[in-house]
Amino acid sequence: MTKRIINFGIIGCGLMGREFASAAARWLHLLDLDFEPHIVAVCAQHMKSTEWFSQNVPTVRLATTDYRAVLDDPEVEAVYIAVPHNLHAQFYVDAIDAGKHLLGEKPFGIDLQANEAIVAAVHAHPEVLVRCSSQFPFLPGAYRIGQWARERGFGKVIEVEAGFWHSSDLDPQRPLNWKRRLKTNGEYGCMGDLGLHVLHMPLRLGWVPRSVRALLSRIVNERPDGEGELTPTETWDNAILACDVETEDQAFPLMLSTKRIAPGHGNTWFIRVLGTELSAFFATQNPKQLAYLPYSPGDVQAWRMLDMPHTSAYPVITGSIFEFGFSDAILQMWAAFCDELVHGPDMQQPFHCATPEETHLSHRLFTAALESQRTGNTILV
Ligand SMILES: NC(=O)c1ccc[n+]([C@@H]2O[C@H](COP(=O)([O-])OP(=O)(O)OC[C@H]3O[C@@H](n4cnc5c(N)ncnc54)[C@H](O)[C@@H]3O)[C@@H](O)[C@H]2O)c1
Repeated sequence: MTKRIINFGIIGCGLMGREFASAAARWLHLLDLDFEPHIVAVCAQHMKSTEWFSQNVPTVRLATTDYRAVLDDPEVEAVYIAVPHNLHAQFYVDAIDAGKHLLGEKPFGIDLQANEAIVAAVHAHPEVLVRCSSQFPFLPGAYRIGQWARERGFGKVIEVEAGFWHSSDLDPQRPLNWKRRLKTNGEYGCMGDLGLHVLHMPLRLGWVPRSVRALLSRIVNERPDGEGELTPTETWDNAILACDVETEDQAFPLMLSTKRIAPGHGNTWFIRVLGTELSAFFATQNPKQLAYLPYSPGDVQAWRMLDMPHTSAYPVITGSIFEFGFSDAILQMWAAFCDELVHGPDMQQPFHCATPEETHLSHRLFTAALESQRTGNTILV
């Protein structure tokens, strides 16, 4: 099979830039795909951060601190951008204007205004594929819940709960980095960091919040600034969003939570859908386990626990009894992005990466949540 090679540039060589490089390096894990990404250019704020890439990724031939050099490179067809939130609007808009396909990181703009600038650039360039990174729906348990929802297997939805919980900020000695500062992370705080991950599946399934009552908390009021001084914290630690959803044929509550301080939860993403004919729960804490409860009137109500086989959106070499993890979900998400880039609507499986419109809905929700916190009122989204 001849493979279509997609030459990528990576802008932002930190935690997530490396994850992408690693996913591209083990493309051989995926079976029977007629496309493959090659990373040819990398860019970071400091050259030092590009060294790991130059040493480990043989296809890299440009390493720079100037992101425009990547965008000016005619051989670069697509870019992955993973930089602090205050740079999203400028970098994403420039990439789209330069005609590069873009997989950008969430939250896709530091605030609503920045997000709208990105969405406007997307509309001005329909020839460019623009998607936002969100890998959790590609975990087999989550993917199965998405399949059930598409097949309308839940009956009447009773309620949906989705969350993403971290706990490392419980330690008051944890220094402030850019992800905890207003200027670089934005006023959304934990919602900007974690919120699109929580919303991606509900939005894709058509469960769009109509209104929100938010409870936002700041739990640790000062932290070391990295140079030994204690500095006031500026961003929200935890958010609980009580939303109502009204679709064509039903209305139900949607509870969303994003927490940096959920004691004991290292990186827990979860979704719980309760319905009259089927309920289901999946959490990354037990990544193999999918709990579900099918129901017909008069039946016993007993939760079943399924050890999910290693079934993924895109088939892989891994045997079905083996466990699936974070980096597998990243690989699957990349396959979805490249598949859509090459095959458009004829992509191999239906779950594509988060769209700019979905990020826009998330920004409208987070902006309404800030207003709800300020006023104590329920706000229409
Ligand atoms: N999908 C996920 O699970 C996930 C996880 C963590 C972070 N993220 C998102 O990824 C993005 C980056 O987060 P990270 O954890 O990789 O951050 P990081 O701090 O590890 O890396 C940020 C990178 O941006 C680069 N950078 C900063 N200013 C730059 C400039 N002017 N020009 C070029 N490069 C510049 C830095 O050099 C660094 O390499 C954020 O949007 C974040 O929300 C996503």
